[in-house]
Amino acid sequence: MDKIVVEGGASLKGEVKISGSKNAALPILVSSLLADGWNTYSNVPGLRDIKSIKQLLSYLGAKVETDGSTVRIDGSGLCKSEAPYDLVRKMRASILVLGPLVARLKKARVSLPGGCAIGARPINLHLKGLARLGASVELKHGYVEVSAERLKGNEIYFDIPTVTGTENLMMAAVLADGVTVLRNAACEPEIVALADVLNKMGADIHGAGASIITIKGVQSMHPVSVSIIPDRIEAGTFMVSAALTRGDITILDCQPAHMGTLIHKLRLTGTAIKIDGKNIHVIGSDEIESIDIKTLPYPGFPTDMQAQFMVLMLIAKGLSIISETVFENRFIHVSELRRMGADITISGNSAMIKGVPMLLGAPVIATDLRASASLILAGLVARGKTEVHRVYHLDRGYEAIEKKFARLGASIERVRE
Ligand code: UD1
Repeated sequence: MDKIVVEGGASLKGEVKISGSKNAALPILVSSLLADGWNTYSNVPGLRDIKSIKQLLSYLGAKVETDGSTVRIDGSGLCKSEAPYDLVRKMRASILVLGPLVARLKKARVSLPGGCAIGARPINLHLKGLARLGASVELKHGYVEVSAERLKGNEIYFDIPTVTGTENLMMAAVLADGVTVLRNAACEPEIVALADVLNKMGADIHGAGASIITIKGVQSMHPVSVSIIPDRIEAGTFMVSAALTRGDITILDCQPAHMGTLIHKLRLTGTAIKIDGKNIHVIGSDEIESIDIKTLPYPGFPTDMQAQFMVLMLIAKGLSIISETVFENRFIHVSELRRMGADITISGNSAMIKGVPMLLGAPVIATDLRASASLILAGLVARGKTEVHRVYHLDRGYEAIEKKFARLGASIERVRE
């Protein structure tokens, strides 16, 4: 497996173009199953997770063609209703096929994803929602089996706002009889992006982006041609890199409106941020102020930016408290960051960070996607060489991140181990 080797110390400067959003692309590619005919998706990021979802869609009978960042999918050949263990265990988001499969084939058999490094991550709310739409749901031999002759619209209340749960239920409800109301739905920009695509396909969805979403079932949907929104987490990672290395970076082709909380928090650290349409200009400050953050569902501070923001606080002036409220075990990067000289104390779901004058490069291991990014960020600012091993997770969610950092002046390379 590859490792990323970083020699810290460069102040990053220049422009970086943001790729399409992984978390928006995954459900949108899956929505191709809801109609017959060729859909065209542009600005799809070249990531391992995207490869996994394309494999799953092909396995289910869809035709998939890729040309650079354009992906074409025809769902008319959909014939299999099973997502097997080997495909689901590679990527939890495979569970997104559940809703469309029941809607189109009246049944689905999907391997239960199981826990992952950052928490137990159950799918009980996806299943409760499908049951509210009249589906029978059974758990057998590690698989969830869902069937319904015809889904019927109903009121669904999510005990916790769940992103993929909201997406799954939206995709199940678009072809159901009658009206479905999702209450306490997730409000992430990726939900709005999916609802926009579904509406373009002929669905009748109102309220996406707020916590109550109303879906009037329609008889059929048609294929579309759409572009994937920019990745707000990738953009955020580069914003933090500018603040961290006291750099000067212009982030091109992003959606600043999707990053309001991060922009606000970065400004409080002393980082200068100017927004110009779809571009964000970030200039790091010599003195980084410590601030507190608490992760929350959108529009709160994104859990997917927690590890990267923590790295900024490692070298800030003073004390910072970072509370993780979305996932129960999302501090796995902490022990690796400590090996680089970080002063972090964990108590329950909070991390207390005492800023240190400098980090020192070290060999470290990446154990989840955003943790991998945080270790690279730490390497960029540390004195000496950092080797980030096992970058499998990084490739799931960041497109050529080392090349993008190298173009900004970082001394960074990918080495085959
Ligand atoms: C999505 C994102 C992920 C992000 C997360 C939170 C995708 C592909 N992934 O993951 O990058 O970190 O949102 O912003 O979009 N929960 C339950 N029961 C359920 C479903 C969720 O208890 O049935 C809990 C989870 O364990 C977690 C919380 O709800 O504590 C939020 O999780 P959720 O929004 O579902 O995360 P994902 O959709 O898996």
